[in-house]
Amino acid sequence: MTTLDAALSGTFAIGGDLKVVRLGFGAMRITGRGIWGPPEDPEEAKATLRRLPELNVDFVDTAESYGPYISEELIGEVLAPYSKGTIIATKSGLTRTGPDEWHQVGRPEFLRQGALLSLRRLKLDVLDLWQLHRIDGQTSRVAQFEAIAQLKEDGIIRHAGLSQVSVADIKEAQKYFPVTTVQNLYNFANRQSEDVLDYCEANGIGFIPWFPLAGGDLVKGHAEARAITEKHNASPSQIALAWLLKRSPVMLPIPGTGKVKHLEENVAAAAITLSDDDFATLDRIGRKG
Ligand SMILES: NC(=O)c1ccc[n+]([C@@H]2O[C@H](COP(=O)([O-])OP(=O)(O)OC[C@H]3O[C@@H](n4cnc5c(N)ncnc54)[C@H](OP(=O)(O)O)[C@@H]3O)[C@@H](O)[C@H]2O)c1
Repeated sequence: MTTLDAALSGTFAIGGDLKVVRLGFGAMRITGRGIWGPPEDPEEAKATLRRLPELNVDFVDTAESYGPYISEELIGEVLAPYSKGTIIATKSGLTRTGPDEWHQVGRPEFLRQGALLSLRRLKLDVLDLWQLHRIDGQTSRVAQFEAIAQLKEDGIIRHAGLSQVSVADIKEAQKYFPVTTVQNLYNFANRQSEDVLDYCEANGIGFIPWFPLAGGDLVKGHAEARAITEKHNASPSQIALAWLLKRSPVMLPIPGTGKVKHLEENVAAAAITLSDDDFATLDRIGRKG
């Protein structure tokens, strides 16, 4: 029988004091097509959220722009008042003009409004982890970083993170507030943020790889990698997740789905321990892309 316990992935303390189970959940997929509007099957999306604490998934990533608002509203409706210490990490800094349309807005008043309205939708008094979805290229970077420092000082957010950034961006932001997490595109087959991951590991910063399941396609299409899936009686995406978990102790994958069955499949990856040899083989295949 497959073990369904996210806690098998171990824990990481964000900012040194916010302990989460490493295998988390991405709540972008509990919305409609193009991450716009309500999900096609709202009952299934709610059932997926309800299943999280039962599987010991206690780290949920969302954003005000998912839906927009729909993802946060569903989380507030289904999971508040957050039994078992579930941590909701949200984001602001992107506005929406339609399905699949995302625009950067880093004006300080927009970021502050974003955090305050996330509190309301998530039914929280403080946001444990708030992330800047993108550094807005059209707004002063200093103004954005100072706005985040102010949110911390005012007790609206506890920890702050960044998304889709370089090592230089992190270093610059750290002059204004402690960067506790970084959320970049990263998976078994896309290693463009390898230097950012290494920096995060060296500095105790949580690294949240988005699009973590995409590596599964490469596993599926490669005979040597497929042999490893067969050895573990696992799916390609489960092996891609197991590889991420072994890659670094600061890795916090957040596979996203609006379906209970898929959530369970993803959580089962926490029970897979790759040998050093299998990890190295997969690493070599992944680096070649
Ligand atoms: N910071 C950023 O800029 C950024 C950007 C993108 C995403 N994110 C965050 O990262 C999270 C993960 O990224 P992601 O959702 O783009 O990619 P992902 O988790 O790698 O993949 C999600 C896709 O895979 C499907 N899926 C999930 N589990 C499956 C399974 N067991 N079998 C088959 N299909 C499965 C989902 O569809 P179903 O719903 O049908 O299962 C969905 O289409 C998001 O939820 C969001 O929280 C952040």
